Amino acid sequence: MGKTYKIAVVGGDGTGPEVIAEGLKVLDAASRRFGFTLELTPFDFGGERYLKTGEVLPDSAVDELRKFDAIYLGAIGHPEVKPGVLEKGILLRLRFELDQYINLRPVKLFPGVDCPLKDKGPEHIDFMVIRENTEGLYAGAGGFLKKGTPDEIATQLSVNTRKGVERCIRYAFECTKKRNKDNKLTLCGKTNVLTYAFDLWERTFHEVAREYPGIKTDYAHVDAITMWFVKNPEWFDVIVTDNLFGDIITDLGAMIQGGLGIAAGGNINPEGVSMFEPMGGSAPKYKGQNIINPLAAICAGGMMLDHLGETAAAKLVEKAVMDVTGTKLKSLAAGKMGYSTTEVGDMVAQLVADMKE
Ligand code: IPM
Ligand code: MN
Repeated sequence: MGKTYKIAVVGGDGTGPEVIAEGLKVLDAASRRFGFTLELTPFDFGGERYLKTGEVLPDSAVDELRKFDAIYLGAIGHPEVKPGVLEKGILLRLRFELDQYINLRPVKLFPGVDCPLKDKGPEHIDFMVIRENTEGLYAGAGGFLKKGTPDEIATQLSVNTRKGVERCIRYAFECTKKRNKDNKLTLCGKTNVLTYAFDLWERTFHEVAREYPGIKTDYAHVDAITMWFVKNPEWFDVIVTDNLFGDIITDLGAMIQGGLGIAAGGNINPEGVSMFEPMGGSAPKYKGQNIINPLAAICAGGMMLDHLGETAAAKLVEKAVMDVTGTKLKSLAAGKMGYSTTEVGDMVAQLVADMKE
């Protein structure tokens, strides 16, 4: 008998529910083939609920979500809600309160996908970014002084705890070892200017590195890494960095892997409940048209399977997506795929059901 996993499903706003529906189709095909069960529980958190009830996230929600094996999230963000309310009130709150201290973002160019970089193909772009997900400039430390006066002061502090930095770096070394590709971990920081925060990161990085003699270590400043992503993406295997730098460089990473239509991520608490999401936003202008690309959500579902321990199923989902990008889709852009959202989901699900492992 295969295992049963309890999954909280938050479709969210805009095109979120549409792409999650396709992801669930694929997960259903995987569960039949590999003999496990996904017990799905939907939650209606998002902009619509907030506009109706005035409540962003009920207080009971976080504790309720703790009972699940994983959370599958579509997108949060609504054009009629002031920016920041839902992002902070739902997405960031869940990351923080569920202590999902790793944001894992694979950057991999799949076959057939148009890459904006000249002369770069799938053999050049295959790395992982591990972004610290609960601290740094996202921690919310700081505030206003003399607000609204000509002497107003606004501070926003980057919080870096030894514990938070170390657990993230440790996860990155473990991930590099497990991946066993180039066995190379790059710390991305700004040691020439942020001489407190990244001093802590650098010291911790070198200390932990001693426990991993098989892993080569490297360092790149965050500004320089944006150049290397464009010029030499093949240099990278795994990158570890803080919250804001990770946020910024993974958008660039998404672009070189073909855009937000394919970029997926995991908010991981290795000891708790993790949450998997496509990286793109809610794309409200495409809502309800059946033209949005569901592959990022499908890939996020694949990451969720890998995290749950269904590694063979996860590999097959990736293989099926590669088949679809390599032999079917004209483009990854919404409305230009040559297929509708539901057709793309059907094709991937069919391959997951039938194709050779
Ligand atoms: C992301 C997003 C979020 C972030 C926003 C929506 C708060 O950009 O997941 O990268 O900044 O982390
Ligand atoms: Mn971002």
